[in-house]
Amino acid sequence: MEVDQQTPPSKFPELKNDTFLRAARGQDTPHVPVWCMRQAGRYLPEFRELRAGQDFFTTCRTPETCCELTLQPLRRFPLDAAIIFSDILVIPQALGMEVVMLPGKGPTFPEPLKNAEDLLKLKMNVDVAMELGYVFEAITLTRHMLEGKVPLIGFTGAPWTLMTYMIEGGGSNTMSKAKRWLYQYPEASHSLLSLLTDIIVEYLVGQVAAGAQALQVFDSHAGCLGPRQFAEFSLPYMRDIAKRVKAKLKEAGLEVVPMIVFAKDAHYALDELSQSDYEVVGLDWTISPKVAREQTGLRVTLQGNMDPCALYAPKEKIGNIVKRMIEEFGTQRYIANLGHGLYPDMDPEHVGAFVEAVHTHSKNMNQSS
Ligand code: CP3
Repeated sequence: MEVDQQTPPSKFPELKNDTFLRAARGQDTPHVPVWCMRQAGRYLPEFRELRAGQDFFTTCRTPETCCELTLQPLRRFPLDAAIIFSDILVIPQALGMEVVMLPGKGPTFPEPLKNAEDLLKLKMNVDVAMELGYVFEAITLTRHMLEGKVPLIGFTGAPWTLMTYMIEGGGSNTMSKAKRWLYQYPEASHSLLSLLTDIIVEYLVGQVAAGAQALQVFDSHAGCLGPRQFAEFSLPYMRDIAKRVKAKLKEAGLEVVPMIVFAKDAHYALDELSQSDYEVVGLDWTISPKVAREQTGLRVTLQGNMDPCALYAPKEKIGNIVKRMIEEFGTQRYIANLGHGLYPDMDPEHVGAFVEAVHTHSKNMNQSS
């Protein structure tokens, strides 16, 4: 399908299922909306087939393939939202860093940042529309091809999580190289986090202009920071992102879309996160829904948080786990999800059982209340 990039958002097909957006905005919903982090992924045979032999970041730069991969899980499961297929590491690439996806090893930077002087190697005036326009094209195309079935979520990595990858050069258990910067080069760390924040703000506004109807910020590596370091090196930037994105959307006459913050393992910051400009706070599975609700009150919608590994349980058991989770969160101001992404060895039928259980149990609970 030919898509004119100039098509104004009003020309997008009308949204048929707004349950996810209603919950994100704190409005009542007839059932609990549900989606899964990494719902487009290797656990689906059709995903593996389409990705087969193609380099991961080449896939990310091919809007038609991103669109098809985004739609695949929606054909199987009655999910209430789609999330654009892309990756958080496209931002370090836009800054001029090389990132490759090595099978069995994951994302790898051949030349990670080693010391403060290495910041000079980064591009300072990134033209976001030029460097990341392929993501915007994928979003516009997908928004059309979704035909209004469900809303489309755009996303970014948070400054701290992107900084960890740029310094560690890949996955790490301790994040000690990146954390060393916070103690040895605090000023350079702040410069890098500010630079990332500026690009992220423009990138997220661009995603909404292209058709994203909600935005999620992934601070997947928040957990290796303690409360003090989170307060200094992550929270201010996360807050700034939500505030500036919303101001810019207003200024540009674009819809001010709901924003989700997912700071994995940063429970100590729940109170503060719930008082920032995010409508939704995403939770990993290591916090109980009751405790999270106590800390955030009804200020925000909560999203999460079933242990992804619960999908290894027999299908009948998944229903019980889901029921208990919804009872604890309540059926309103709640978006069901896993506490982190799906793993490649998970059974698609069990994902289906999870989604179905959320709908069935939440409808029943709404009817009996
Ligand atoms: O379905 C969705 O959730 C949308 C797509 C999505 C991907 N990556 C696709 C992907 C999203 C939202 C991401 C975000 C992302 N990427 C994060 C934040 C979320 C999180 O998981 O904490 C992070 C940390 C990354 C970096 C990254 N990219 C990792 C750690 C990996 C896994 C490497 C591996 O070998 O397991 C990737 C690759 C990646 N991104 C895959 C997918 C579907 C799998 C690789 C493939 O398809 O070949």
